[in-house]
Amino acid sequence: MSLNEINGVGSAWTDEGTGTPLVLVHGFPLCRGAWAAQVEAFKGSHRVIAPDLRGLGESGITGPSPVTMDLYAEDVKALMQRLGTGPAVLAGHSMGGYVVLAFARRFPELLRGLVLVATRSGPDSPEGAAGRRATAEKVRAQGASVVVEAMAPKMLATGNTDPDMPARVRALMAPSRPDGVIAALLGMAERPDATPGLAALKVPVLVISGTSDILIPHAESEKMAAAIPGARLVLIPEAGHLVALEQPAPFNAALREFLAGV
Ligand code: MLT
Repeated sequence: MSLNEINGVGSAWTDEGTGTPLVLVHGFPLCRGAWAAQVEAFKGSHRVIAPDLRGLGESGITGPSPVTMDLYAEDVKALMQRLGTGPAVLAGHSMGGYVVLAFARRFPELLRGLVLVATRSGPDSPEGAAGRRATAEKVRAQGASVVVEAMAPKMLATGNTDPDMPARVRALMAPSRPDGVIAALLGMAERPDATPGLAALKVPVLVISGTSDILIPHAESEKMAAAIPGARLVLIPEAGHLVALEQPAPFNAALREFLAGV
């Protein structure tokens, strides 16, 4: 673990292994621990880098709020520059997917491949954005637990009976700071539509989703894959929104096969 300034923010990240860099960007309101099974599985073959986005996990937050998806993407780029990675394969889960799509638009020269996990390219509907702003107000008044309580039960497949999983999911959300959660909510509410950029992607793309995702239905992945030239789509059964954590074996197999061709 490191805690150092990236773009003026005290930031934490994981950096393990050597080889082609694989940068894993977590979702909301999670942290890099969501990728633990991927760090373990790929550090023998890749340089695996997983940041805590500013205001989430162990990373601090200073500077602007909302944090736009572009600003998170700039943080990822600054981290890659600091670590001297050169072009990398970027994987983004959910909000992390919004971030890596912003990264692909802004910094295509630093991209070798893209993995879009349980995410979508479209923006929030006006009602969805208004809901996020209302939630941000609640977090301001009552703390980040408002979001944890609302989201934790929706992260897993409804059929998941693993008794340890709910506590693991909550532990991934627990470190999130209220100001970080608010900044992310407001940033997501104002994110632009990334759909027009999909056809222009020039790198290999893997789109992965769980078939039991109730937060971002897998139809979103199907739409994105259809819009990206040459994209590979993998749907994983018995997996909810946290597909990489919930079904690491099929997830890692799909990722490994993809990485072999990048
Ligand atoms: C996430 O897991 O990052 C969130 O569900 C994304 C969102 O709220 O749009």
